[in-house]
Amino acid sequence: MKIGIMGFGVVGSGVGEIIRNSSDGLASRSGEKIEIAKILDLRDFPDSPFDCFTKDFNEILEDQEIGIVAEVMGGTNPAYDFTKKLLMAGKHVVTSNKELVAKHGTELLQIARENHVSYLFEASVGGGIPIIRPLYSSLSANELTEVLGILNGTTNYILTQMIKEDTTFSDALKSAQEKGYAEKDPTADVEGHDTCRKIAILSSLAFGKFVDSEEIPTEGITKITLEDVAYADAMGCVIKLLGMASKEEEGVYARVCPALLKKDHPLAGIDDVFNGIMVKGDAIGDVMFYGRGAGSLPTASAVVSDIIDAVKHKTEHIGLGWTEGEAGYLKDGSGQKFRYYVRLSGDAAAYPKDAYQVITLKDLAFDGEFAILTPELSEGEFAALKEEISKTNPILGTLRMVEG
Ligand code: HSE
Repeated sequence: MKIGIMGFGVVGSGVGEIIRNSSDGLASRSGEKIEIAKILDLRDFPDSPFDCFTKDFNEILEDQEIGIVAEVMGGTNPAYDFTKKLLMAGKHVVTSNKELVAKHGTELLQIARENHVSYLFEASVGGGIPIIRPLYSSLSANELTEVLGILNGTTNYILTQMIKEDTTFSDALKSAQEKGYAEKDPTADVEGHDTCRKIAILSSLAFGKFVDSEEIPTEGITKITLEDVAYADAMGCVIKLLGMASKEEEGVYARVCPALLKKDHPLAGIDDVFNGIMVKGDAIGDVMFYGRGAGSLPTASAVVSDIIDAVKHKTEHIGLGWTEGEAGYLKDGSGQKFRYYVRLSGDAAAYPKDAYQVITLKDLAFDGEFAILTPELSEGEFAALKEEISKTNPILGTLRMVEG
């Protein structure tokens, strides 16, 4: 089977490396030899072991021998146009491009179905962790009701560095970029957009209908400080960026936010570039997936596994996906209740202790500030509380607490 690779960055070069180094093993596992026929990239790679680079997409599109294309270029433009053309030309497409899947997945899956080819995206969520196939296949006996996960390697690496090494946010981000974890524009990581796209894909797949990432309330980690990390620790918690989605009778809820997790929560010990995803099903109960969520070879591992699946099913459409969403399916989460941590400026001794749990830190650096932990409040109730307390105590930071 001849394949094309579009994009020779962190993931594309990993795909090349696995196919080159594991040629015999891949052939025995897929049933035929997998050969890279063309690599599309606008850059030059004079030191690469490959000599099949092209800057012209049509060379892949029009090559009748190429049956599978790995789209690992990222972004929606030109990946959307290229993917549509490839599927319409009867080529299978496998991708790590979560932005494209979250935005145009419904349409691309439909085009794949109509053209009897597959559009596979195991690498779009959780890097090397198998999560797409389990949701659509291994857990299909279940009514899935909840997905909760650490879905971004870059931010989990940054938070771990802040928690364990006292590293500043910007130093930790620089290191994540050097390790090839971050997006080209790391704003997508640190502002939570990457996690948002991933929870949109997982909830669409788990609950069966398209969930639009643009409608999911999303907060990133840029406001988290080392002070918040210290208060969290004093409360027996860690701070993690979470993607969460649940299916209730009235519809689906989804949200991305940094949150406090008790240290004995199953996701609390997931550190560095690792991702962890908890899924709840009516028959299985809780099931958890864990592994490297970013990086060249882990992500390429998922891409190449999709290539093997496409080789094995080259004459058919692998029917994973979801149906169109509908207005009102994704609910406004303002009624969802959380406990909130609030860091305040002022004198803890003057604060009414019976109202909330008050947390003070002994270190001199924390003089003149303290934190409180509220009971469960809706967004409206919390907004009213913030307005009230900020009259006497300026608010320095807030976080939700995720329990259970
Ligand atoms: N930037 C992403 C992350 C890459 O850090 O998780 C993998 O999707």
